[in-house]
Amino acid sequence: MTGPAGRHVTFGEADMTEHLNRLGRTAPDLYACVDPARARAWARLAEAGDFKDDFGADGAGGRGSSYIRAQGRNLAARAQGIHHLLSLVPARTDRRPAVVVDVLGGDGLVRRVADARGLTGLSVLTCDASPYMVGAAWAAHCPALVQRADRLLLRDGSVDAVLVAYGSHHIAAEDRAELAHEAYRVLRPGGVLLLHDFLVGSPMETWFQDVVDPYSRTGHAFDHFSREEMWGYLTKAGFESGEVTEMADPYVATAATAGEAELELGRYLLDMYGLAAIKRRHPADAARRTVELAKTIFRDRRADGSLEAFSAAYDPSARTWTCTLPRTAVLAIGRKTS
Ligand SMILES: C[S@@+](CC[C@H](N)C(=O)[O-])C[C@H]1O[C@@H](n2cnc3c(N)ncnc32)[C@H](O)[C@@H]1O
Repeated sequence: MTGPAGRHVTFGEADMTEHLNRLGRTAPDLYACVDPARARAWARLAEAGDFKDDFGADGAGGRGSSYIRAQGRNLAARAQGIHHLLSLVPARTDRRPAVVVDVLGGDGLVRRVADARGLTGLSVLTCDASPYMVGAAWAAHCPALVQRADRLLLRDGSVDAVLVAYGSHHIAAEDRAELAHEAYRVLRPGGVLLLHDFLVGSPMETWFQDVVDPYSRTGHAFDHFSREEMWGYLTKAGFESGEVTEMADPYVATAATAGEAELELGRYLLDMYGLAAIKRRHPADAARRTVELAKTIFRDRRADGSLEAFSAAYDPSARTWTCTLPRTAVLAIGRKTS
């Protein structure tokens, strides 16, 4: 499925048919939301392959395998933010599980965090434009679909929440308005779009510009969001109400000692962002150097003027240390009422 142009992928009609059959067998409630004609038609077009797959296989120049390793090693690292996002999904009046389309779903982290935290009443469909990531999601027992953010393959009015999180900046600026329109189309009345990213000028943008772009094997030159930009997408797509707000979304690691928890954060960031050049230059202490860099960048000024920075806390009942790098995300919530 990897095309000759390296990170460009192809995903054809036969691959789509295979995935749809699997979805029908394992998750009929999610399969019922897919428009098979839309899916097959898109797969025919996608055979040309114009998507640059940064999260593809190593052999194709991607950094998907180290990304997946990071999430598998520390499922709790971003669980606080994910839990908050899922708490915003409206419960259904018919008491059936609310269908959440995780548009940038990767290897199914959101679904796996929901399971690990015992969040009930949700049925998450993991979607991604990268066939490699969708394959990893299936391997982790997460029902999954290859789909582009700006071309949802779902039926009109079929889902309760469209979650676009942990990578919205990867969606090209010219595709973002269409993403919001598509989200509005597929939501039922009462459904929500949750569009999550990081603000222009935030520590996260500095991290991407100063660390991920120069040191990762794929680079990372993407535009982040402004509040006004997000609000514009909601209103132009027709959402009847909504807001743009901020939320805490830290990186967390826990271990027997404070030092080990800190190093675990470093390992997580090294793998999550595929910081191959740091590993190459500092093979003996790449994790240490990475977490030290992160500590200088992830420092947030609170509204009262105080500084929120790296912290380590001891839990005497569990006898563990938890290290936290604070991070603030921006979140646009669009509500479809009619
Ligand atoms: C940073 S990963 C997030 C994965 C997962 N949600 C997590 O938090 O670990 C971003 C994912 O978005 C996918 N992606 C990027 N651009 C996309 C697009 N236009 N449409 C659909 N998926 C896209 C990538 O392939 C990647 O798997």
